[in-house]
Amino acid sequence: MISRSLRMRNLVESVRVASSLSKLGGCRYNFTSQAAAPSLQQACEPFTINSDDESADVDWDNLGFSLMPTDYMYVMKCAREKNFEQGQLSRYGNIEFSPSAAILNYGQGIFEGAKACRKADGRLLLFRPDQNAIRMQIGAERMCMPSPSIDQFVDAVKQTVAANKRWVPPPGKGSLYVRPLLMGSGPVLGIAPAPEFTFLVYASPVGNYFKEGLAPLHLYVEDEFDRASYGGTGGIKAISNYAPVMKAQLRAKSRGFSDVLYLDSVKKRYVEEVSASNIFTVKGNLIATPATNGTILPGVTRRSIIEIARDLGYQVEERLVTVDELLDADEAFCTGTAVGVASVGSITYHNTRVEFRTGSEAVCGGLYSILVGIQRGIIDDNKGWVVEID
Ligand SMILES: Cc1ncc(COP(=O)(O)O)c(C=O)c1O
Repeated sequence: MISRSLRMRNLVESVRVASSLSKLGGCRYNFTSQAAAPSLQQACEPFTINSDDESADVDWDNLGFSLMPTDYMYVMKCAREKNFEQGQLSRYGNIEFSPSAAILNYGQGIFEGAKACRKADGRLLLFRPDQNAIRMQIGAERMCMPSPSIDQFVDAVKQTVAANKRWVPPPGKGSLYVRPLLMGSGPVLGIAPAPEFTFLVYASPVGNYFKEGLAPLHLYVEDEFDRASYGGTGGIKAISNYAPVMKAQLRAKSRGFSDVLYLDSVKKRYVEEVSASNIFTVKGNLIATPATNGTILPGVTRRSIIEIARDLGYQVEERLVTVDELLDADEAFCTGTAVGVASVGSITYHNTRVEFRTGSEAVCGGLYSILVGIQRGIIDDNKGWVVEID
């Protein structure tokens, strides 16, 4: 068995393995210091954007997944029943809301997560930012908010990355995580949509999401707390979906698990997703993942991995997946922007712990190599997924 960290160091080799896999499948892949945040007043002072090439003073070899404030953020505001028009970059800093802002009182807010990578030649690449824009639009509609157009969203993300380019890690050392937020920022007292909305994009350099690094995850199947229910907001990235499951996550982590796997809230029989990632099972040539029926977030990584797996000749099914089917699988893995493609080493359900195939034999390693290869510009992108920042 080969550790995931070793696999990561050997990415080039993995890409070669993926290359031969892709040929077998007949698919189309060609391989080729943290400072305190300034105040709002400081943030609003006039400034000149300095997006020079000098790298930020960061220990790039030890990036985790925690906030490292960068230089600039993007802000755009809009009144109720109006459209977003013009936003702008400002210095990264605290923002000011009325105590009765809808986001603070009623959780009227959604967010997104995207990543920018630095190519070996220095160019900066985004992965499918239009998909994040579309998901934000769907979420905004559900939460009674206006949303930026796809072009406005992608442009804001590009501007944020370009302005903070000294914070984009060197190739292979991590990425710049980009966090777009859409919030009801205006004041309300009774339950109602806010009179004003704020779209904000900030960024932070990140490495691995899990403290385990790239080692296989150990998941705990939660059957007391629910993440989402039918008719609720599980299918969008509502801010309010996340705090209610922190308790389950903290409890699982205190028992030594990496994360929590949630079940459907009605029968507690079907697998849904992990705290910030989608789940897949592998049995022989069949890859299955829970269908996105409103309670599961339709992940951009999930969709991309489904396409890559089908290109490689796997049979991929999106449908109900029972816990029993999961526990009987050869392999399980999680997908997400922050997580990447993470191999699952074990799943514990009630008092039973089941272990899965991991390491160089695992299917998810090949899928991950292709995904990362496209994201980093190592593999030709013939799907139009990668967007370069000029
Ligand atoms: C609940 C949940 N599921 C799945 C995902 C994975 O989605 P994506 O691949 O778009 O990052 C995320 C992260 O965005 C998430 O928060």
